[in-house]
Amino acid sequence: MPFKASLCFLIRMSKKVYIETYGCQMNAADSEVVGGILTADGYDFTREIAEADVVLVNTCAIRDNAEQRIYGRLGLFQRYKRTRPDLVVGILGCMAERLRTRLVDQERLVDLVVGPDEYRKLPGLLDNAFSGSKGVAVRLSRVENYEDIVPLRMDGISAWLSVMRGCDKFCTFCVVPFTRGRERSRSLRSVVEEVAMLLDRGFREVTLLGQNVNSYRDGSYDFADLMRGVASVDRRLRVRFMTSHPQDMSEKLIDTIASCENICKYIHLPVQSGSDRILGMMNRTYTVDHYLRLVERIRSTMPGVSLSTDIISGFPTETAKDHRATIGLLKQVRYDGAYTFKYSPRENTKAWELRDDVPDGEKGRRVNEVTTLQHEISLELNSMMIGTTERILVEGPSRKDEREWTGRTDTNKTVIFLRSEQKSGDYIDVIIERANSATLFGRSLAGQTAHSVRHAEVPQ
Ligand code: SAH
Ligand code: SF4
Ligand code: F3S
Repeated sequence: MPFKASLCFLIRMSKKVYIETYGCQMNAADSEVVGGILTADGYDFTREIAEADVVLVNTCAIRDNAEQRIYGRLGLFQRYKRTRPDLVVGILGCMAERLRTRLVDQERLVDLVVGPDEYRKLPGLLDNAFSGSKGVAVRLSRVENYEDIVPLRMDGISAWLSVMRGCDKFCTFCVVPFTRGRERSRSLRSVVEEVAMLLDRGFREVTLLGQNVNSYRDGSYDFADLMRGVASVDRRLRVRFMTSHPQDMSEKLIDTIASCENICKYIHLPVQSGSDRILGMMNRTYTVDHYLRLVERIRSTMPGVSLSTDIISGFPTETAKDHRATIGLLKQVRYDGAYTFKYSPRENTKAWELRDDVPDGEKGRRVNEVTTLQHEISLELNSMMIGTTERILVEGPSRKDEREWTGRTDTNKTVIFLRSEQKSGDYIDVIIERANSATLFGRSLAGQTAHSVRHAEVPQ
């Protein structure tokens, strides 16, 4: 029958894409945008590389070790391509933007190089690649925000949502303004509509993303307005956000986070260093004193708020005294968590012109000291939660044991508990019984009394 024949034809024609994603959550969100663009063009996605006609690697360029890891993967895909000459390999994301034609010309590693603002061109570029022409599309845009694209998301509890792209801060160590271009924001209306759609699909948590998310601007609306708009979509939905720059952490925003009960009381607020001299050289636009006053304002408005940070060790000219200032800042703030990095010089950045004069071994020693101290502090703070009752959003089984499930507190702490009748997406109360520096272990109180069940239906 003609109908059957054409169906077979379609099935045979639909090519399969395998995508691997590195880097930050914005890259994870971008891979979902790429998924949306390519499925609309008739592609299918697969988790099996052996089934794929197209392999895409969405890359990160933030530090040299991130790029080295990706080179390793590209080498593997090249060897794979020898046995499958028709396989198309494409590199997307920040490393594509940074290295541009170098990846196809000199190193002959890939067929396609597509930067973060050019994903709409992927269907055309793939058509060309299948007929043997290599393609490079790396123009950065002042307007592209993909707000009309429906990202391809697996069903789940938690969704990432890019609300702004790019960065105008130009910290002297950072490649992001060069790989992601200028700041631009999606409209508040489009974000709120997408969130309402996610809620209907069963999602219970959204994280609003931007490299500098609190500098969001949509004509007359700022980030505080956006957060309030998203939070009022539904009380069952938890709202998170990342990453905030201290400079744009306005009083209005702090008050909004404090006053909306379903905006999570967790702020990732990277400080980078505890030395004013280094902060100045980094162009971070704040001093330690300004930062500490900000932390004080956040904590007095929101007692119990959880804070985390990023620290770079070994920025050019960083002395033992500067390093001690960072250690001192960590002891003073007592963050719930910290991500720590060795400084990695990046081409084109301002700091690239400075001599990378802290020896690698010394950078490592400083990072270790910061990490060890932070572990001690995290353990102390987590241990203080033993005996308290926390409301968590249930996510699903833990990786280690099917019977053990995980969820997160409002303050972004992972809690492991033994599952009874709970489902993903439920809010339940747990009593914390044990803790280490990264995880809490609790016992579920849901179902014990009618009161706690009734309570567990809405966030705190
Ligand atoms: N936009 C965010 C962070 C983006 S990158 C912010 O401004 O805080 C994530 C983290 O990587 C940064 O906070 C910084 O700590 C680290 N990082 C960025 N460039 C780096 C470099 N060249 N070397 C080492 N760490 C770096
Ligand atoms: Fe990089 Fe600074 Fe922009 Fe963050 S704010 S992305 S560290 S330039
Ligand atoms: Fe990496 Fe680009 Fe994100 S450099 S951290 S993937 S914005």
